[in-house]
Amino acid sequence: SLPSYVQLKEVGPRDGLQNEKSWITTEDKVNWINMLSTSGIKEIEYSSFVNPKMIPALSDAREVGKRIIRNPDVKYSALVPNIKGLEYALEAGIDGASVFMSASETHNQKNINKSIQDTYPVLDKVIVEAKQAGKHVTGYISTVFDCPYEGKISPEKVLDVCDKLIESGVDDLSLGDTIGTAVPTQVEQLLELLLQHYPKEKLILHFHDTRGMAIANIMTAMHYGIYRFDSTIGGLGGCPYAPGAAGNVATNDVLYLLEGLGINTGIDEKKLQEAGVFIQNKLNKTLPSRSLAYLKNA
Ligand code: HMG
Ligand code: MG
Repeated sequence: SLPSYVQLKEVGPRDGLQNEKSWITTEDKVNWINMLSTSGIKEIEYSSFVNPKMIPALSDAREVGKRIIRNPDVKYSALVPNIKGLEYALEAGIDGASVFMSASETHNQKNINKSIQDTYPVLDKVIVEAKQAGKHVTGYISTVFDCPYEGKISPEKVLDVCDKLIESGVDDLSLGDTIGTAVPTQVEQLLELLLQHYPKEKLILHFHDTRGMAIANIMTAMHYGIYRFDSTIGGLGGCPYAPGAAGNVATNDVLYLLEGLGINTGIDEKKLQEAGVFIQNKLNKTLPSRSLAYLKNA
């Protein structure tokens, strides 16, 4: 049976903007995040505390964190790759720190400049310190289905990374279909294995929608009891270190699905739409979400 409640994490301000060529001013980011935080969304990933040379679009993470108006009902999180990033993030204000790595050796190398083995001690430090600071810690694992460099990634390989991150102390795991190529049978195979080791509460799924499969994959995951998903408003986004990757599954499209299924999210569709139109206008381009386009034209 399907879950009665689904929790969406809005990753638009991070995953959505990180790949954009046009600069969104700090003020626009702050206003946009403030809009999102009054839409009923319970968690927002507001930026990334990474090397600004690698992700120039988010080089103002510290300013954004300091300026957003915090809604006490919303958890604000950010990507944190190392101790330096954690220091900045704690100073700017976070409820949650998200560490990240890849199940594929090559993608890990391209994205964070280290082998998988060399990544564990770096993340372990971040996880331990973030927990000591009282923060929630999520471990993102990229390329859990397919890698743009290595092809298919086996569920066993993903489980191995999950085990290492859980041993270090992450609270939960977000499994990334980084290049948006998975089909539902791949979701089934991975969940069949992971759910033998971890309860559904620990697992979040993070789909990109390159091939238009994300909604089918979310439906499949919900049949396994998974009720937490990452999405971006309008379907904004992509990883600059994963060639061919399109944006995340659109929050608007997931919301349309969930409302049709009678599943509660607490999100106000109209406010979500306003925030989608706002960023679409700032980026001066049409976002891929069909639900957003439909609503805009309606
Ligand atoms: P490194 O390349 O190993 O080098 O960094 P380093 O630690 O020696 O640092 C190099 C430079 O970066 C130095 O500056 C550092 O000070 C600076 P320089 O001396 O050259 O002027 N630096 C920093 N500056 C600010 N904040 C920091 C920081 N750390 C170093 N925290 C590192 C390793 C991981 C930091 C780097 O490779 C990096 O920033 N990578 C980020 C890549 C990224 O953000 N990718 C996209 C996010 S992941 C994603 O999208 C996937 C996901 O959505 C899930 C999915 O879809 O699958 C999560
Ligand atoms: Mg992503």
